[in-house]
Amino acid sequence: MRAYDLILKKRNGAALSREELHFLVDGFVRGDVPDYQMSAFLMAVFFRDMTAPETADLTLVMAHSGETMDLSPIPGVKVDKHSSGGVGDKTSIVLVPLVASLGVPVAKMSGRGLGHTGGTLDKLETIAGCRTEISGEAFFDQVRRVGCAIVGQTADLVPADKKLYALRDVTGTVDSIPLIASSIMSKKIAGGADAIVLDVKCGGGAFMRDVALARRLAQAMIEIGEALGRRMAAVISDMDQPLGDAIGNALEVHEAIATLRGAGPADLRELCLVLGAKMAMLGGVAANEVEARARLEESLGNGAAAGKLGEMIRAQGGDATVVDDPDRLPRAPVVRDVTAAADGHVHHIDAMALGLAAMALGAGRARKGDDIDPAVGVVLEAKVGAAVRAGDVLARVHARDAEHERAAVVAVRDAYTIDAMPAAAPPLIRAVLG
Ligand code: URA
Repeated sequence: MRAYDLILKKRNGAALSREELHFLVDGFVRGDVPDYQMSAFLMAVFFRDMTAPETADLTLVMAHSGETMDLSPIPGVKVDKHSSGGVGDKTSIVLVPLVASLGVPVAKMSGRGLGHTGGTLDKLETIAGCRTEISGEAFFDQVRRVGCAIVGQTADLVPADKKLYALRDVTGTVDSIPLIASSIMSKKIAGGADAIVLDVKCGGGAFMRDVALARRLAQAMIEIGEALGRRMAAVISDMDQPLGDAIGNALEVHEAIATLRGAGPADLRELCLVLGAKMAMLGGVAANEVEARARLEESLGNGAAAGKLGEMIRAQGGDATVVDDPDRLPRAPVVRDVTAAADGHVHHIDAMALGLAAMALGAGRARKGDDIDPAVGVVLEAKVGAAVRAGDVLARVHARDAEHERAAVVAVRDAYTIDAMPAAAPPLIRAVLG
């Protein structure tokens, strides 16, 4: 077999077999297939697409390029969830303990924030002592003992994706549906879960701007998972405005804890109930949506979900007392109100602009490896649809100093579109698949 022939085959629009994909991916990881040939192949995929079975084969080959988790000795259906990333997206910190509190083992490998989107690991690490870099054995042991864990990917998980993503990033081949779907799903498959619930974000603050594209991506990932024997479901949710009110690491943990205690913003709670119901049904502890929601709501109301977060934090070496006393989380020294200049209704909140404002405050990374400030960020007091009077607080900026605060106040004010006409809140759930 020669890489040259496989590039030509894809360039001419044919589907590659699993053996051919294995030859290419394995050769690339070992260094036998050079970057220039893999780049040509990726560009051919970009223009020629892949069939569903071919995408599943690529995913499987990638998943087996490194270490894979075997969670089968843990009783029950092990469930994972994935979000395609957005602004203010703290659903994992709510969902993982919430669903685990119903007796479904949840084994979650998460990532760090990059650019305008935050990362679950950075958020969890704002809790004093909480570790997310733990070994595969410790991850397995924690899921078995506690019922849930949120950890970083182990170093050897899907090395093919690390190498391929770095190449896609510099060859204009990131935004290809089969390449995104295989990249995400290879990590989920290697993570060992039996069932996977996908939250594909759609809108101005997401990677997928348009609902048709988000649907295609979700469908491609469902087909991969099902072809590889996983139970799958997907929700397409709104990311035209940030999710919940808080943007910034410790601020988001604060909000996640409030939600686990039965309070929290309505949109965050609702999305967690929708995704949680799918996870509970796939996990086999609820027969239908109504039963699943009732059990989840009970757990939010009686302290079981919050208690499970405490157990998870303690197991990961963290200060679990934050669950009862979230004011122990890091707090920024400067807090400034952003107020409305005139009466009106909030028509739009630019999620991307707010994500970038939070990043400039220090909550996110411009480059991989940058340090983040756990305490800073923005808390929204008015969301799309709200009626406001001149002088009302739209949002609060939490900053490390006056200079950062001043720049963020301008950016946050500019992110709001306020108009005299009434406005409706956008639908939170755009579609449910699977
Ligand atoms: N997230 C991933 O993990 N991979 C992609 O290709 C895009 C988003």
